[in-house]
Amino acid sequence: MSTLRVEGVTVRFGEVTAVDDVTLSVDVGVTGLIGPNGAGKTTLFDVISGLRKPTAGRVLLDDADITSWGPHQRSRRGVARTFQRLEVFGSLTVWENVVVALESRRRSARLAAELLERVGIAEFSDNQADTVPTGAARLLELARALATDPSLLLLDEPSSGLDRAETDAFGALLQELVAEGRAVVLVEHDMDLVMNYCDRVHVLNLGSLLTSGTPAEIREHAGVREAYLG
Ligand SMILES: Nc1ncnc2c1ncn2[C@@H]1O[C@H](COP(=O)(O)OP(=O)(O)O)[C@@H](O)[C@H]1O
Ligand SMILES: [Mg+2]
Repeated sequence: MSTLRVEGVTVRFGEVTAVDDVTLSVDVGVTGLIGPNGAGKTTLFDVISGLRKPTAGRVLLDDADITSWGPHQRSRRGVARTFQRLEVFGSLTVWENVVVALESRRRSARLAAELLERVGIAEFSDNQADTVPTGAARLLELARALATDPSLLLLDEPSSGLDRAETDAFGALLQELVAEGRAVVLVEHDMDLVMNYCDRVHVLNLGSLLTSGTPAEIREHAGVREAYLG
């Protein structure tokens, strides 16, 4: 049984086929989702998180068909994501952003502070969210996603804006999240992060699944090199 299964998912925007008949599975661990710009990664996240209905295909969570579920229902079942374009509340403080993301039964000042500590941005707690560096804002998105205690966490380019030390800390956090039994899907351009921390990698190109494999297999795949270089 896989945590997440995407079956034959297609998304068309008029003439553009953003996601083309993609079938893949995600289990507990870190799963990389890579591919050149425009490959359909963010659109696939939109489909998995329930923000966009696929033109065709199904989304299964723990073997239940959730294709017709809305984003809130999926969130309650443990699906959380971050956005490539940051979606924090700019006029609230960093800490307030996490408090509002906590579900009512878990809402507490202390838990919000712990989550900020955990992602490494406690120093920015009282700063207004639209004034913090991009890297910190990305980590704030992660803290907000963790506030729902997700079993499936979708991260859309989380490391852009992080320096090397912050990226290493982020990698260590990924391992902790997996040790807690979560499934993490990582859309990421930092190949060191992908190669060092992913258990499996799916490669999208022009909307289609090019290949899936271990990081070592992906590194050696001629088609992957071509998709990136060509
Ligand atoms: N809302 C939209 N309307 C029209 N085309 C879109 C929309 N969102 C994405 N696309 C197109 O779908 C393709 C995949 O985009 P996207 O999922 O953002 O790729 P990635 O995240 O891999 O860079 C691109 O050709 C993009 O221009
Ligand atoms: Mg994208």
